[in-house]
Amino acid sequence: MAVQTQVNGGSAVKVDVLIVGAGAAGLMCAMTAGYRGRSVLVVDHANKVGKKILMSGGGRCNFTNLGVTPAQYLSSNPHFAKSALARYTPGDFIELVERHRIAYHEKELGQLFCDESSKQIVRMLLDECEVAGVRIETSCAVDRVTHGQSGFTVKTTRGEVHAQSLVVATGGLSIPSMGATGWGYELARQFGHDVLPTRAGLVPLTLSGKHQEHYQDLAGVALPQVSVSVGKHAFRAGMLFTHRGISGPAILQISSYWHTGDDLRVDLSPELQAGDWLVAQRAARPAAELKNVLGDLLPKRLAQRLCEHWLGNRPMRQWQEHELRAMAQRLHDWPIVASGTEGYRTAEVTLGGVDTDGLSSSTMQSKKVAGLYFIGEVVDVTGWLGGYNFQWAWASGTAAGQVA
Ligand code: FDA
Repeated sequence: MAVQTQVNGGSAVKVDVLIVGAGAAGLMCAMTAGYRGRSVLVVDHANKVGKKILMSGGGRCNFTNLGVTPAQYLSSNPHFAKSALARYTPGDFIELVERHRIAYHEKELGQLFCDESSKQIVRMLLDECEVAGVRIETSCAVDRVTHGQSGFTVKTTRGEVHAQSLVVATGGLSIPSMGATGWGYELARQFGHDVLPTRAGLVPLTLSGKHQEHYQDLAGVALPQVSVSVGKHAFRAGMLFTHRGISGPAILQISSYWHTGDDLRVDLSPELQAGDWLVAQRAARPAAELKNVLGDLLPKRLAQRLCEHWLGNRPMRQWQEHELRAMAQRLHDWPIVASGTEGYRTAEVTLGGVDTDGLSSSTMQSKKVAGLYFIGEVVDVTGWLGGYNFQWAWASGTAAGQVA
């Protein structure tokens, strides 16, 4: 168990490294700096550490992805993440997980999950922090930060802390009920950094108007495989109707690329050429109604709804071949109009954040203020769904922990 003591009962504490935020990136940074012999204090205003790790991956933490490359990250500078990701790889984190005898498995597409519980990842990080001599304070809010010759002075609710290095690991704005705040962005601005506009990512999309009317009672209907695209970006995975719109892995992925007004297209049958299939069905089942035939290709309730509102419905023999082929084209390119997202309340991540132009890509150190670092999600680097965001937290946390 990591040491959890009071910050000196009110009088100033001196440490080499103060890390604000005991989430994935903060704890990784703390153990790395601690192993270098630095005195490290981590403070977090939440009542326990790693809350997002605990709730991640449905309680099993999708802690990394075997296929990590910089291409799976969104940032205004797509090159920024390269250095840190290359120096701390999924293999490095897997080695740590194995050393702690945490059983894991690959679910799909390189996504690694704990067999048992996300708690094991938090436990592992806390155990490492304890061995590295890191001190952790929860329920400790931070306030004013000043910077002088000897480093940083940070006012906390447990007293003042002086630190040579200050690492900001406060994450993004997603899930405020889990302790998310914009403190990191405000601090960045205070020290002259640009903060790029933030928005919710990996988030369900909402529908409005007739799209919502037509599909809202399909909540719970799932398609195991669709291909969703916005411009040149496309993701093939599952999709789910919700009370307010659409979700599922394919939608969460595309949501990070979608902006209000963007054209969203869904290929409802990416695995099967629907044109040939429909023509064959007409020959095989001429008396069957289209909605029943389509019910073999798509979830029955969706097939029915699409026929009611969009495609029409007649026995198969009454459709010309060219009509069926045109209909297939529509099924491969369904234009669904999203009106917005569910927002930070349910988003897995926050896009945008501290502009990477002001940071060193190898150390995460500020180019404006020596000794100031930004790591993890607070930085304008956001990964796809599938373990990429934790890998960024581990990699950027390690990069800063090696030098702070
Ligand atoms: P993180 O959010 O982990 O930590 C920030 C810490 O800072 C928190 O402990 C917070 O309390 C603290 N803090 C904030 N403001 C503060 C302040 N003013 N003062 C003091 N402390 C403050 N990713 C992935 O790769 N695989 C997955 O399976 C999942 N699953 C998942 C599920 C859900 C529901 C969510 C919301 C997110 C995920 N993610 C994920 C994303 C992943 O959780 C996220 O990208 C990382 O936790 C980011 O790590 P950070 O350390 O940057 O922030």
